[in-house]
Amino acid sequence: MDDLPDTGAAPLFRAAAEARLAPSILNTQPWRWHVDDRHLDLYADPQRQLTGLDPDGRLLVLSCGAALQHAEVSLAARGYEPAVQRTQQRGDDRWLARVGVGGRRPVRPEDVEAWHSMRQRCTDRRPFRAATPVPEAALATLCAAAETAGAWLHRVEPEQVRYVRAAAQGAQRIEDKDQRSVQDLREWAGRDPGLGDGLPAATVVAPVARPVPLRSFGLEGEQGERTADPGPGDDHLAEYLIIATTGDDPVDWLRAGEATSAVWLAATTLGLAVSPLSDVVEVPGARVLLRSLLHRPGHPQLVLRVGAAAGGAPPAAARRRRARDVIRRDRPAPRPRI
Ligand SMILES: Cc1cc2nc3c(=O)[nH]c(=O)nc-3n(C[C@H](O)[C@H](O)[C@H](O)COP(=O)(O)O)c2cc1C
Repeated sequence: MDDLPDTGAAPLFRAAAEARLAPSILNTQPWRWHVDDRHLDLYADPQRQLTGLDPDGRLLVLSCGAALQHAEVSLAARGYEPAVQRTQQRGDDRWLARVGVGGRRPVRPEDVEAWHSMRQRCTDRRPFRAATPVPEAALATLCAAAETAGAWLHRVEPEQVRYVRAAAQGAQRIEDKDQRSVQDLREWAGRDPGLGDGLPAATVVAPVARPVPLRSFGLEGEQGERTADPGPGDDHLAEYLIIATTGDDPVDWLRAGEATSAVWLAATTLGLAVSPLSDVVEVPGARVLLRSLLHRPGHPQLVLRVGAAAGGAPPAAARRRRARDVIRRDRPAPRPRI
């Protein structure tokens, strides 16, 4: 992917190409883009749905929402006003959104910052540094980013952390016994690097004691694959931010994904490290427990662990599929239902 600025290439195609950098559940990259001269249409790819961990497609759509927000960042950084229409999904309709260009607009410094963060962002699963809290001002910025994207953040209070821990432990116990969930992890973690997707072992850290355990991907000792060194952190000052939405429809999941991306890019700009926890929303009982922690009526969609990176080399990068495998040039499509 080329560097900014270059407005010569078709901005919509470039936005779809850059959206490949978005985070996704188990790096499934479950999106497809159709581009014509005026629009970019975003589709979920049902072949990439995790049928055990994500039977409703919640995290599939959420991942697509992150890609959608990345596409918006790409357009804004090149001086195009992104115009997004979110479709009302019905049944098997996997058409999620249409992106157009509303016109030219001046590029703001924050647009360029977000674009740079898009290229730097990664999942950092190492425990975060002890004795370095997340500043209050940074938390306020992250909350504002979520709200702008149509969701909101609940900051887990120190006395609520043990409930998040219980939710994670309970979810992991249930998923460990569920054959379809175990199969999803086998398929996507430690996958053939040539495929350009899935979770490389080098991005996962061996299990360590921490206030909230991260998902174990079952990669330790697999075919000599090396997991990452956990480093000296302990997560005791990690913040756990619940991304929540008022409704719980696919459009809410899409917005939760956009908010995830917006919050994560803002955190990256602030020099903070992030890793998501989704096991706590995958298992219904854990999701109910998480919901009981919210101070206003809503639905938890994802938890972000945010903190100061423990230092050392940046985490290994997860690979991406080629642009030609995810973007199709298309004839103009009819208007979506909105
Ligand atoms: C919806 C969603 C759920 C995720 N769930 C988890 C999780 O439970 N545990 C985890 O360690 N990472 C989780 N991740 C992070 C992905 O594994 C990561 O984004 C992907 O492997 C690509 O790597 P990157 O973020 O470094 O580009 C999740 C990401 C998304 C978008």
